[in-house]
Amino acid sequence: MADTLTITDNRTGKTYEIPIADGTIRATDLRQIKAGPDDQGLATYDPAFMNTAACRSRITFIDGDRGILMYRGYPIEQLAERSTYLETAYLIIFGELPTATQLQQWVREITYHTMLHENIKKLMEGFQYDAHPMGVFLSTVGAFSTFYPDAKKIFDEKSRLKQIHRLIAKVPTIAAYAYRHSIGRPYVYPDNDLSFTGNFLNMLFKMTELKYQVNPVLERALDVLFILHADHEQNCSTSAMRNIGSSHADPYSSMAGAAAALYGPLHGGANEAVLRMLTEIGSVANVPAFIKRVKGGEGRLMGFGHRVYKSYDPRAKIIKQTADQVFEVTGRNPLLEIALELERIALEDEYFISRKLYPNVDFYSGLIYQAMGFPVEMFPVLFAIPRTSGWIAQWEEMLLDPEQKIARPKQIYTGARRRDYVPLPDRQG
Ligand code: ACO
Repeated sequence: MADTLTITDNRTGKTYEIPIADGTIRATDLRQIKAGPDDQGLATYDPAFMNTAACRSRITFIDGDRGILMYRGYPIEQLAERSTYLETAYLIIFGELPTATQLQQWVREITYHTMLHENIKKLMEGFQYDAHPMGVFLSTVGAFSTFYPDAKKIFDEKSRLKQIHRLIAKVPTIAAYAYRHSIGRPYVYPDNDLSFTGNFLNMLFKMTELKYQVNPVLERALDVLFILHADHEQNCSTSAMRNIGSSHADPYSSMAGAAAALYGPLHGGANEAVLRMLTEIGSVANVPAFIKRVKGGEGRLMGFGHRVYKSYDPRAKIIKQTADQVFEVTGRNPLLEIALELERIALEDEYFISRKLYPNVDFYSGLIYQAMGFPVEMFPVLFAIPRTSGWIAQWEEMLLDPEQKIARPKQIYTGARRRDYVPLPDRQG
């Protein structure tokens, strides 16, 4: 017997059989339930998409209750231990781990697309000296569509691949230029002898030395952080990417929107917010008072809680280990003690336990980034670089999915009913 949901409409006495597939019913199947002839049919109301699947996806699997995260079926723990960011990006975008030849070719393509057009450099020079690097980042990604008009050919596979190479390769260069701009230092050109993260560190931190010496521990730590942030299925920024892309905008314009969504403190801005919060708390002694304020509704414990994970975020566990390795090189971040104490108290507290609030990926990532020398303003940018691979994969999946159309949610209109225009002199008050 096929799985169905039987709905009886008490208003009409009619019964409907709604098919259930993959644990969902189709919202459009509810339209047949009508109360009157002019009625458009029953719809669902789901602000913030709390219980609505908007696509089928083969990219990332999350089981929030059991703390499982897998890209294309591979557990995040295995990828973080054994893969590299570029290999993981390939996996996410193309669906399979690359062969040795495919990986070599992929790495070569990315390495040779890292340079920015000189006019993009000029464009970035136009920003205010203290411009937030994330604002610079998302504007520059948007501006790319004017430099690469061929990106409009979104149904041409070759053209798509070209934009994919460009995007993955150039985002670290934009990010590094945005950072150097914000501190008034000259831009550093990419060094093709270095790895993806090694070159990124070079473009960020190279001074007058002829060749930048990459610290292998920091290079690997950054690579692991990039693996952890590469995709996270239908989150706010990815949904933005899919939504904008559904209008057939080019991938650069779509990604500028996705990056804007990531900018917010409830999403990619969270690790920046965590650092500000830890700095504001100031000392371990102030932690209980801070927790009391959070429980009283005065603000949130940033880096805690997640829409999907209702247990420990698996990425947070890996990040904690990475933090130890980084601190051995850089020295311990003084804010770590406050973070550990916050976590300890929160995990024992009824308020956080009953709401299933655990540390998320951003609780510790900011501490690592700060220890590595990044200013807090760079944190969302450091998130956007690896998430580029996830955004692209999700965008392409959406484009090639015959079930997808331009995204267009419904609304429940709660405004004024029809009324006649009142000329200015006749208006009261
Ligand atoms: N601190 C204190 N209380 C919290 C927190 C928090 N960090 N997060 C949720 N709550 C409380 C809410 O006040 C609410 O309590 P109530 O039922 O008494 O009203 C309950 O827990 C449920 O919260 P919601 O807002 O409904 O949960 P939602 O799933 O919508 O929010 C979110 C998820 C946005 C991540 C939220 O937990 C939050 O704001 N966390 C802090 C910001 C953060 O760390 N964001 C990073 C997310 S990870 C990422 O984007 C990579």
